[in-house]
Amino acid sequence: MVSAIDNIVVEAVGLTKIFKDFWGRPKARAVNNIDFNIRQGQVFGLLGPNGSGKSTTVKMILGLLYPNRGMLKVFGEEPRDVDMKSRIGYLPEETYLYKYLTAMETLDFFGALFGLSADKRRERSMQLLDMVGLSHAVNRPVGEFSKGMARRIGLAQALINDPDLVILDEPTSGLDPIGCREVKDVIRLLASRGKTVILSSHLLADVQDVCDEVVILYGGKIRASGELQEILKEEDKTRIIAPRLNDSVVSELKDWLLEHGVKTVEQVKVDHPNRDLEEFFLDVVRQAQAQSVDTAGAQSGGEVPAYLVAGEDGPAQAKRGKAVLDALRRPEEVKPIQEEEPAAEPEAQVDLSKLEKLGAEPLKVEEEPASSEEEAADAAAKAREEANLRLSKLKGED
Ligand SMILES: Nc1ncnc2c1ncn2[C@@H]1O[C@H](COP(=O)(O)OP(=O)(O)O)[C@@H](O)[C@H]1O
Ligand SMILES: [Mg+2]
Repeated sequence: MVSAIDNIVVEAVGLTKIFKDFWGRPKARAVNNIDFNIRQGQVFGLLGPNGSGKSTTVKMILGLLYPNRGMLKVFGEEPRDVDMKSRIGYLPEETYLYKYLTAMETLDFFGALFGLSADKRRERSMQLLDMVGLSHAVNRPVGEFSKGMARRIGLAQALINDPDLVILDEPTSGLDPIGCREVKDVIRLLASRGKTVILSSHLLADVQDVCDEVVILYGGKIRASGELQEILKEEDKTRIIAPRLNDSVVSELKDWLLEHGVKTVEQVKVDHPNRDLEEFFLDVVRQAQAQSVDTAGAQSGGEVPAYLVAGEDGPAQAKRGKAVLDALRRPEEVKPIQEEEPAAEPEAQVDLSKLEKLGAEPLKVEEEPASSEEEAADAAAKAREEANLRLSKLKGED
Protein backbone atom coordinates (compact mmCIF):
# COMPACT_ATOMS: atom_id res chain seq x y z
CA MET A 1 0.00 0.00 0.00
CA VAL A 2 1.39 3.37 -0.97
CA SER A 3 1.31 6.10 1.58
CA ALA A 4 -0.76 9.13 0.73
CA ILE A 5 2.17 11.37 1.57
CA ASP A 6 4.93 10.96 -0.93
CA ASN A 7 7.53 10.51 1.75
CA ILE A 8 10.76 9.24 0.24
CA VAL A 9 12.56 6.85 2.60
CA VAL A 10 15.33 5.71 0.26
CA GLU A 11 16.56 7.67 -2.73
CA ALA A 12 19.24 6.37 -5.09
CA VAL A 13 20.61 8.16 -8.12
CA GLY A 14 23.33 6.68 -10.31
CA LEU A 15 24.20 4.22 -7.56
CA THR A 16 27.26 2.17 -8.48
CA LYS A 17 29.39 -0.43 -6.72
CA ILE A 18 32.41 -1.96 -8.37
CA PHE A 19 34.38 -4.71 -6.65
CA LYS A 20 38.05 -4.84 -7.57
CA ASP A 21 40.30 -7.86 -7.74
CA PHE A 22 43.56 -8.33 -5.83
CA TRP A 23 45.44 -6.18 -8.36
CA GLY A 24 42.94 -3.36 -8.14
CA ARG A 25 41.38 -4.12 -11.49
CA PRO A 26 37.59 -3.82 -11.72
CA LYS A 27 36.28 -7.32 -11.20
CA ALA A 28 32.52 -7.07 -10.85
CA ARG A 29 30.17 -4.19 -11.51
CA ALA A 30 27.86 -5.51 -8.83
CA VAL A 31 25.58 -2.47 -9.04
CA ASN A 32 25.78 -0.38 -12.17
CA ASN A 33 24.32 3.10 -12.21
CA ILE A 34 20.83 2.46 -10.83
CA ASP A 35 18.13 4.94 -9.81
CA PHE A 36 15.15 4.25 -7.57
CA ASN A 37 12.93 5.84 -4.92
CA ILE A 38 11.28 3.97 -2.09
CA ARG A 39 8.34 5.68 -0.40
CA GLN A 40 7.09 5.34 3.14
CA GLY A 41 4.68 2.45 3.65
CA GLN A 42 5.76 0.68 0.48
CA VAL A 43 6.82 -2.91 0.18
CA PHE A 44 9.61 -2.58 -2.34
CA GLY A 45 10.96 -5.68 -4.07
CA LEU A 46 14.51 -6.06 -5.29
CA LEU A 47 14.20 -8.91 -7.75
CA GLY A 48 16.80 -10.68 -9.77
CA PRO A 49 18.66 -13.95 -10.27
CA ASN A 50 21.69 -14.85 -8.14
CA GLY A 51 24.53 -12.40 -8.50
CA SER A 52 22.38 -9.61 -9.94
CA GLY A 53 23.31 -7.10 -7.24
CA LYS A 54 20.46 -7.35 -4.74
CA SER A 55 22.52 -7.93 -1.60
CA THR A 56 25.09 -5.34 -2.66
CA THR A 57 22.29 -2.76 -3.00
CA VAL A 58 20.90 -3.73 0.41
CA LYS A 59 24.32 -3.43 2.03
CA MET A 60 24.82 0.04 0.56
CA ILE A 61 21.45 1.14 1.96
CA LEU A 62 22.59 -0.16 5.35
CA GLY A 63 25.92 1.65 5.09
CA LEU A 64 27.80 -1.67 5.24
CA LEU A 65 29.30 -1.09 1.78
CA TYR A 66 30.17 2.24 0.25
CA PRO A 67 29.15 3.17 -3.27
CA ASN A 68 31.86 4.08 -5.76
CA ARG A 69 29.56 6.54 -7.44
CA GLY A 70 26.10 7.98 -7.15
CA MET A 71 23.89 9.45 -4.48
CA LEU A 72 22.15 7.42 -1.79
CA LYS A 73 19.97 8.86 0.96
CA VAL A 74 18.12 6.92 3.67
CA PHE A 75 15.62 8.99 5.69
CA GLY A 76 17.31 11.93 4.02
CA GLU A 77 20.68 11.08 5.55
CA GLU A 78 23.87 9.40 4.42
CA PRO A 79 23.61 5.62 5.03
CA ARG A 80 26.57 5.82 7.40
CA ASP A 81 24.64 8.12 9.73
CA VAL A 82 24.55 6.27 13.04
CA ASP A 83 21.30 7.74 14.44
CA MET A 84 19.41 6.68 11.37
CA LYS A 85 20.43 3.03 11.86
CA SER A 86 18.33 2.62 14.98
CA ARG A 87 15.29 3.09 12.72
CA ILE A 88 16.27 0.10 10.58
CA GLY A 89 15.69 -3.61 11.07
CA TYR A 90 17.81 -5.98 8.99
CA LEU A 91 17.54 -9.65 8.24
CA PRO A 92 20.79 -10.64 6.50
CA GLU A 93 20.82 -13.12 3.64
CA GLU A 94 22.44 -15.72 5.85
CA THR A 95 21.43 -15.73 9.48
CA TYR A 96 24.54 -15.54 11.61
CA LEU A 97 23.80 -16.29 15.22
CA TYR A 98 25.80 -16.93 18.36
CA LYS A 99 25.13 -20.62 18.55
CA TYR A 100 25.36 -21.06 22.31
CA LEU A 101 22.85 -18.31 23.08
CA THR A 102 19.28 -19.47 23.46
CA ALA A 103 16.48 -17.99 21.35
CA MET A 104 15.50 -15.73 24.24
CA GLU A 105 19.09 -14.64 24.94
CA THR A 106 19.61 -13.90 21.25
CA LEU A 107 16.71 -11.45 21.15
CA ASP A 108 17.69 -10.02 24.53
CA PHE A 109 21.20 -9.43 23.17
CA PHE A 110 19.97 -7.47 20.15
CA GLY A 111 17.40 -5.61 22.26
CA ALA A 112 20.20 -4.53 24.59
CA LEU A 113 22.22 -3.22 21.66
CA PHE A 114 19.29 -0.92 20.90
CA GLY A 115 19.27 0.23 24.52
CA LEU A 116 15.89 -1.27 25.38
CA SER A 117 15.20 -1.77 29.09
CA ALA A 118 15.35 -5.31 30.50
CA ASP A 119 11.57 -5.39 30.97
CA LYS A 120 10.88 -4.24 27.44
CA ARG A 121 13.43 -6.71 26.04
CA ARG A 122 11.78 -9.57 27.84
CA GLU A 123 8.29 -8.53 26.84
CA ARG A 124 9.13 -7.97 23.19
CA SER A 125 11.26 -11.11 22.94
CA MET A 126 8.42 -13.29 24.21
CA GLN A 127 5.93 -11.63 21.87
CA LEU A 128 8.22 -11.94 18.87
CA LEU A 129 9.10 -15.57 19.60
CA ASP A 130 5.40 -16.28 19.77
CA MET A 131 4.79 -14.43 16.52
CA VAL A 132 7.42 -16.43 14.61
CA GLY A 133 6.27 -19.75 16.08
CA LEU A 134 9.25 -20.39 18.37
CA SER A 135 7.69 -19.99 21.80
CA HIS A 136 8.29 -23.70 22.46
CA ALA A 137 12.03 -23.20 21.77
CA VAL A 138 12.66 -20.15 23.96
CA ASN A 139 15.41 -21.84 25.96
CA ARG A 140 17.03 -23.85 23.19
CA PRO A 141 20.46 -22.74 21.90
CA VAL A 142 20.02 -21.35 18.40
CA GLY A 143 22.94 -23.51 17.23
CA GLU A 144 20.51 -26.43 17.32
CA PHE A 145 17.97 -24.70 15.11
CA SER A 146 17.01 -25.88 11.64
CA LYS A 147 17.48 -23.44 8.79
CA GLY A 148 13.82 -22.47 8.89
CA MET A 149 13.93 -21.88 12.64
CA ALA A 150 17.08 -19.77 12.24
CA ARG A 151 15.27 -17.70 9.60
CA ARG A 152 12.37 -17.17 11.99
CA ILE A 153 14.56 -15.96 14.82
CA GLY A 154 16.36 -13.74 12.31
CA LEU A 155 13.05 -12.12 11.45
CA ALA A 156 12.22 -11.64 15.14
CA GLN A 157 15.64 -10.05 15.65
CA ALA A 158 14.97 -7.62 12.78
CA LEU A 159 11.81 -6.36 14.53
CA ILE A 160 12.97 -6.03 18.14
CA ASN A 161 13.59 -2.28 17.79
CA ASP A 162 10.21 -1.59 16.15
CA PRO A 163 12.00 -0.26 13.05
CA ASP A 164 10.54 2.20 10.53
CA LEU A 165 12.44 0.57 7.67
CA VAL A 166 12.70 -3.20 7.55
CA ILE A 167 15.21 -4.70 5.14
CA LEU A 168 14.81 -8.40 4.48
CA ASP A 169 17.38 -10.14 2.29
CA GLU A 170 15.80 -13.35 0.96
CA PRO A 171 13.51 -13.63 4.01
CA THR A 172 11.73 -16.80 2.93
CA SER A 173 14.77 -18.83 1.93
CA GLY A 174 14.75 -22.12 3.83
CA LEU A 175 11.22 -21.64 5.11
CA ASP A 176 8.42 -24.12 4.54
CA PRO A 177 5.23 -22.83 2.88
CA ILE A 178 3.63 -22.11 6.25
CA GLY A 179 6.64 -20.05 7.29
CA CYS A 180 6.65 -18.24 3.92
CA ARG A 181 3.02 -17.34 4.29
CA GLU A 182 3.57 -16.08 7.84
CA VAL A 183 6.51 -13.94 6.78
CA LYS A 184 4.43 -12.48 3.96
CA ASP A 185 1.58 -11.73 6.36
CA VAL A 186 3.98 -9.96 8.74
CA ILE A 187 5.38 -7.93 5.84
CA ARG A 188 1.90 -6.78 4.80
CA LEU A 189 1.05 -5.93 8.37
CA LEU A 190 4.20 -3.85 8.80
CA ALA A 191 3.40 -1.96 5.61
CA SER A 192 -0.17 -1.32 6.69
CA ARG A 193 1.28 0.26 9.83
CA GLY A 194 3.18 2.74 7.68
CA LYS A 195 6.50 0.95 7.87
CA THR A 196 8.62 0.62 4.78
CA VAL A 197 9.84 -2.81 3.76
CA ILE A 198 12.59 -3.65 1.31
CA LEU A 199 12.49 -7.24 0.25
CA SER A 200 15.14 -8.92 -1.83
CA SER A 201 14.21 -12.22 -3.39
CA HIS A 202 14.50 -14.50 -6.36
CA LEU A 203 11.30 -16.29 -5.32
CA LEU A 204 8.82 -14.63 -7.61
CA ALA A 205 5.66 -15.98 -6.01
CA ASP A 206 6.60 -14.36 -2.70
CA VAL A 207 7.29 -11.05 -4.32
CA GLN A 208 4.09 -11.10 -6.31
CA ASP A 209 2.05 -11.62 -3.16
CA VAL A 210 3.44 -8.74 -1.13
CA CYS A 211 5.25 -6.10 -3.16
CA ASP A 212 3.76 -2.78 -4.24
CA GLU A 213 6.66 -1.88 -6.47
CA VAL A 214 9.60 -3.84 -7.83
CA VAL A 215 12.84 -3.38 -9.69
CA ILE A 216 14.20 -6.31 -11.63
CA LEU A 217 17.99 -6.38 -11.56
CA TYR A 218 20.25 -8.25 -13.91
CA GLY A 219 23.99 -7.79 -14.08
CA GLY A 220 23.76 -4.86 -11.67
CA LYS A 221 21.38 -2.89 -13.88
CA ILE A 222 17.66 -2.28 -13.57
CA ARG A 223 16.02 -4.08 -16.47
CA ALA A 224 12.41 -3.36 -15.51
CA SER A 225 10.66 -1.47 -12.74
CA GLY A 226 7.30 -0.17 -11.66
CA GLU A 227 4.19 -0.87 -9.64
CA LEU A 228 3.55 -4.59 -9.70
CA GLN A 229 -0.15 -4.28 -10.58
CA GLU A 230 0.76 -2.14 -13.57
CA ILE A 231 3.67 -4.26 -14.78
CA LEU A 232 1.66 -7.47 -14.72
CA LYS A 233 -1.61 -6.18 -16.08
CA GLU A 234 -2.43 -7.46 -19.60
CA GLU A 235 -4.33 -4.41 -20.79
CA ASP A 236 -5.45 -6.03 -24.03
CA LYS A 237 -7.25 -8.97 -22.38
CA THR A 238 -10.37 -9.34 -20.20
CA ARG A 239 -11.06 -12.21 -17.83
CA ILE A 240 -14.53 -13.12 -16.57
CA ILE A 241 -14.87 -15.64 -13.74
CA ALA A 242 -18.29 -17.24 -13.38
CA PRO A 243 -19.78 -20.28 -11.64
CA ARG A 244 -19.42 -23.48 -13.68
CA LEU A 245 -21.09 -23.13 -17.09
CA ASN A 246 -22.34 -26.05 -19.17
CA ASP A 247 -21.04 -26.67 -22.71
CA SER A 248 -24.06 -25.24 -24.53
CA VAL A 249 -23.81 -21.96 -22.62
CA VAL A 250 -20.07 -21.73 -23.38
CA SER A 251 -20.73 -22.31 -27.06
CA GLU A 252 -23.49 -19.66 -27.10
CA LEU A 253 -21.16 -17.24 -25.34
CA LYS A 254 -18.48 -17.77 -27.96
CA ASP A 255 -20.96 -17.08 -30.76
CA TRP A 256 -22.09 -13.93 -28.99
CA LEU A 257 -18.48 -12.74 -28.60
CA LEU A 258 -17.81 -13.35 -32.31
CA GLU A 259 -20.81 -11.16 -33.12
CA HIS A 260 -19.49 -8.46 -30.77
CA GLY A 261 -16.02 -7.72 -32.04
CA VAL A 262 -13.91 -10.83 -31.21
CA LYS A 263 -12.26 -11.76 -34.52
CA THR A 264 -11.66 -15.54 -34.21
CA VAL A 265 -12.93 -18.18 -31.81
CA GLU A 266 -9.27 -19.10 -31.01
CA GLN A 267 -8.93 -15.77 -29.20
CA VAL A 268 -11.42 -16.92 -26.57
CA LYS A 269 -10.04 -19.20 -23.87
CA VAL A 270 -12.40 -21.02 -21.54
CA ASP A 271 -11.08 -23.19 -18.70
CA HIS A 272 -11.42 -23.92 -15.01
CA PRO A 273 -9.02 -21.81 -12.96
CA ASN A 274 -6.55 -23.74 -10.81
CA ARG A 275 -6.65 -23.42 -7.11
CA ASP A 276 -3.67 -21.63 -5.66
CA LEU A 277 -1.22 -24.36 -4.56
CA GLU A 278 -0.28 -22.33 -1.47
CA GLU A 279 -3.91 -22.12 -0.34
CA PHE A 280 -4.40 -25.82 -1.01
CA PHE A 281 -1.23 -26.77 0.91
CA LEU A 282 -2.17 -24.61 3.88
CA ASP A 283 -5.63 -26.20 3.95
CA VAL A 284 -4.10 -29.69 4.09
CA VAL A 285 -1.81 -28.67 6.94
CA ARG A 286 -4.61 -26.95 8.84
CA GLN A 287 -6.63 -30.16 8.66
CA ALA A 288 -3.68 -32.17 10.00
CA GLN A 289 -3.25 -29.66 12.81
CA ALA A 290 -6.94 -29.88 13.64
CA GLN A 291 -6.41 -33.64 14.05
CA SER A 292 -3.47 -32.88 16.39
CA VAL A 293 -0.86 -34.67 14.28
CA ASP A 294 2.54 -34.25 15.99
CA THR A 295 5.36 -32.22 14.46
CA ALA A 296 8.86 -31.28 15.58
CA GLY A 297 10.66 -28.02 14.74
CA ALA A 298 9.04 -24.66 14.29
CA GLN A 299 5.33 -24.33 14.82
CA SER A 300 2.96 -21.99 13.12
CA GLY A 301 3.36 -18.46 14.29
CA GLY A 302 1.16 -16.74 16.81
CA GLU A 303 -0.04 -13.22 17.29
CA VAL A 304 1.79 -10.16 16.10
CA PRO A 305 3.13 -8.19 19.10
CA ALA A 306 1.03 -5.24 20.16
CA TYR A 307 3.98 -2.85 19.88
CA LEU A 308 4.31 -3.68 16.18
CA VAL A 309 0.62 -3.17 15.62
CA ALA A 310 0.22 -0.01 17.65
CA GLY A 311 3.68 1.53 17.80
CA GLU A 312 5.02 2.94 21.01
CA ASP A 313 8.53 4.22 20.48
CA GLY A 314 9.10 7.84 19.70
CA PRO A 315 12.17 9.18 17.97
CA ALA A 316 13.84 9.06 21.39
CA GLN A 317 14.66 5.41 20.87
CA ALA A 318 18.26 4.70 21.75
CA LYS A 319 20.67 5.18 18.88
CA ARG A 320 22.40 1.87 18.97
CA GLY A 321 21.60 0.67 15.51
CA LYS A 322 25.14 0.65 14.20
CA ALA A 323 26.29 -1.82 16.83
CA VAL A 324 23.49 -4.12 15.77
CA LEU A 325 24.46 -3.92 12.12
CA ASP A 326 28.06 -4.59 13.06
CA ALA A 327 26.97 -7.64 15.01
CA LEU A 328 25.09 -8.95 12.01
CA ARG A 329 27.96 -8.62 9.61
CA ARG A 330 29.90 -11.60 8.45
CA PRO A 331 33.56 -11.52 9.44
CA GLU A 332 34.79 -11.20 5.84
CA GLU A 333 32.57 -8.17 5.33
CA VAL A 334 34.20 -6.32 8.16
CA LYS A 335 37.16 -5.64 5.95
CA PRO A 336 36.48 -6.63 2.38
CA ILE A 337 39.91 -7.38 0.95
CA GLN A 338 38.93 -6.78 -2.65
CA GLU A 339 36.75 -3.82 -2.11
CA GLU A 340 37.50 -0.53 -3.76
CA GLU A 341 37.26 1.98 -0.93
CA PRO A 342 37.13 5.72 -1.23
CA ALA A 343 40.29 6.48 0.74
CA ALA A 344 39.11 9.76 2.20
CA GLU A 345 36.74 8.49 4.86
CA PRO A 346 38.35 6.13 7.32
CA GLU A 347 35.78 6.81 10.06
CA ALA A 348 33.14 5.23 7.88
CA GLN A 349 34.84 1.86 8.23
CA VAL A 350 33.20 -0.57 10.57
CA ASP A 351 34.83 -0.63 13.95
CA LEU A 352 36.50 -4.04 14.11
CA SER A 353 37.05 -3.86 17.83
CA LYS A 354 33.32 -3.45 18.40
CA LEU A 355 32.60 -6.63 16.54
CA GLU A 356 35.19 -8.42 18.61
CA LYS A 357 33.57 -7.13 21.77
CA LEU A 358 30.29 -8.48 20.54
CA GLY A 359 31.51 -12.02 20.52
CA ALA A 360 34.55 -12.59 18.36
CA GLU A 361 33.13 -14.30 15.28
CA PRO A 362 29.46 -14.68 14.64
CA LEU A 363 29.08 -18.38 14.16
CA LYS A 364 27.19 -20.06 11.42
CA VAL A 365 24.19 -22.06 12.51
CA GLU A 366 25.20 -25.27 10.80
CA GLU A 367 28.37 -25.63 12.90
CA GLU A 368 29.49 -29.10 14.02
CA PRO A 369 28.04 -29.89 17.42
CA ALA A 370 30.43 -30.42 20.36
CA SER A 371 31.53 -34.00 20.78
CA SER A 372 29.94 -34.74 24.13
CA GLU A 373 26.94 -33.29 25.88
CA GLU A 374 29.08 -32.26 28.83
CA GLU A 375 31.47 -30.40 26.56
CA ALA A 376 28.59 -28.66 24.84
CA ALA A 377 27.07 -27.61 28.16
CA ASP A 378 30.45 -26.33 29.32
CA ALA A 379 31.02 -24.39 26.14
CA ALA A 380 27.50 -23.00 26.26
CA ALA A 381 27.93 -21.79 29.83
CA LYS A 382 31.26 -20.18 28.95
CA ALA A 383 29.93 -18.54 25.81
CA ARG A 384 26.94 -17.19 27.67
CA GLU A 385 29.11 -15.78 30.40
CA GLU A 386 31.38 -14.19 27.82
CA ALA A 387 28.49 -12.77 25.80
CA ASN A 388 26.96 -11.26 28.94
CA LEU A 389 30.27 -9.75 29.89
CA ARG A 390 30.70 -8.23 26.46
CA LEU A 391 27.16 -7.03 26.48
CA SER A 392 27.54 -5.26 29.79
CA LYS A 393 30.77 -3.66 28.55
CA LEU A 394 29.03 -2.55 25.41
CA LYS A 395 26.07 -1.14 27.30
CA GLY A 396 28.50 0.81 29.44
CA GLU A 397 29.81 2.55 26.33
CA ASP A 398 28.76 5.79 24.63
N1 LIG B 1 32.71 -8.82 -1.47
C1 LIG B 1 32.69 -9.05 -2.80
N2 LIG B 1 33.83 -9.07 -3.53
C2 LIG B 1 33.81 -9.26 -4.85
N3 LIG B 1 32.68 -9.44 -5.57
C3 LIG B 1 31.50 -9.43 -4.92
C4 LIG B 1 31.44 -9.23 -3.50
N4 LIG B 1 30.13 -9.26 -3.12
C5 LIG B 1 29.42 -9.47 -4.26
N5 LIG B 1 30.24 -9.57 -5.33
C6 LIG B 1 29.81 -9.78 -6.72
O1 LIG B 1 28.85 -8.80 -7.06
C7 LIG B 1 27.82 -9.36 -7.84
C8 LIG B 1 26.48 -9.14 -7.16
O2 LIG B 1 26.42 -9.89 -5.96
P1 LIG B 1 25.19 -9.82 -4.95
O3 LIG B 1 24.84 -8.40 -4.72
O4 LIG B 1 25.54 -10.65 -3.78
O5 LIG B 1 24.03 -10.52 -5.80
P2 LIG B 1 22.60 -11.10 -5.34
O6 LIG B 1 22.35 -10.70 -3.92
O7 LIG B 1 21.65 -10.50 -6.32
O8 LIG B 1 22.68 -12.57 -5.51
C9 LIG B 1 28.19 -10.82 -8.05
O9 LIG B 1 28.86 -10.93 -9.27
C10 LIG B 1 29.12 -11.12 -6.90
O10 LIG B 1 30.02 -12.12 -7.24
MG1 LIG C 1 21.94 -11.87 -2.32
